[in-house]
Amino acid sequence: MSETVQNRIFSGVQPTGNLHLGNYLGAIRNFVRLQDDYECIFCVVDMHAITVWQDPKELIHNTREVAASYIAAGVDPKKHIIFNQSRVSAHAELGWIFNCVARIGWLNRMTQFKDKAGKNREKVSTGLYVYPNLMAADILAYKATHVPVGEDQKQHLELTRDIAMKFNTDFGREVFPITEPLIMGAATRVMSLRDGSKKMSKSDPSDLSRITMLDDADTVAKKIRKAVSDPNPLPGAGILGDNGEIDSEFRQERPEALNLLNIYAALNDETLGDVLGRYEGKGFADFKKDLTDLAVEKLGPIGAEMKRLMVDDRSYLDGILKDGGERAAALAKPVLDEVYDAVGFLR
Ligand code: AMP
Ligand code: TRP
Repeated sequence: MSETVQNRIFSGVQPTGNLHLGNYLGAIRNFVRLQDDYECIFCVVDMHAITVWQDPKELIHNTREVAASYIAAGVDPKKHIIFNQSRVSAHAELGWIFNCVARIGWLNRMTQFKDKAGKNREKVSTGLYVYPNLMAADILAYKATHVPVGEDQKQHLELTRDIAMKFNTDFGREVFPITEPLIMGAATRVMSLRDGSKKMSKSDPSDLSRITMLDDADTVAKKIRKAVSDPNPLPGAGILGDNGEIDSEFRQERPEALNLLNIYAALNDETLGDVLGRYEGKGFADFKKDLTDLAVEKLGPIGAEMKRLMVDDRSYLDGILKDGGERAAALAKPVLDEVYDAVGFLR
């Protein structure tokens, strides 16, 4: 039997380019904060990336970019594991078993598939459809107990729990833990700078919609200056209810304003109430200047370190991924053995 660890984190980011502020505030920054309390496995999920077409050369570049972002943001690669998914065959092997555990009806409810496939349903890869099963395999191959992600991944994590429960019930053994999502901070869903109703995304055709982790100061300034806002002054903490909930009218009428305020609060590690208290009655011109300075101060050093790692220290970076892959494979092996035994695969 493989041991069950009480505090093990697994999370992943797809190497699909354009790593952005949402990835940082929703996921990567939290990885850094959790690393003192958990044993962590941080993956660059290249097998997930190819569910939509990726140019092979760019995939390699983007894999290094995500790995560099973890390290530049402050994850300790000696203490924790950083690797790319395709190095460890357990993900694909357990993914197949989960293809046989999950039900079609469960996958049909996945909103991310519906969004990504759109009207093109018949033309997308079958991999895109079973993507959530592979994600469950990523997590459960290590019996991870906690998964830090942005809010958009909540439904996939519920599916992971359903798969774990069904497997345990079907085979009459408590093989898998029931994983807890960790959705933390003031910016669990960062919205597009061009449209407050859409989330900030790597695939938005407009570069102005997102601040990337590699943007220089001038680019950050330009994107924030051009971010959609409104002519009204900023509201005060009066838009917050007793429990900190945001007035629904404000939320509906001024989503872009709310997004910029949330980004500020998250970057500066304060509550929305604190930010509102300071900026009440001010206009967007002043606020945007301060937000630019803050974003450059927080992201600039990380972007610079990412570039340094990718250009000057590539062999170090590749060494981390290789070493991480070996350590990850060693952790997954006894779990896979236990699963194969439960399923009845003769070995
Ligand atoms: P992805 O870019 O889809 O590989 O996402 C990697 C991580 O970033 C996941 O934990 C996502 O939930 C998180 N994430 C992606 N976009 C956003 C966003 N706009 N706001 C907050 N978190 C996000
Ligand atoms: N689906 C996640 C995303 O698009 C990436 C991912 C793949 C992941 N496997 C994971 C996240 C396992 C957390 C745990 O953002």
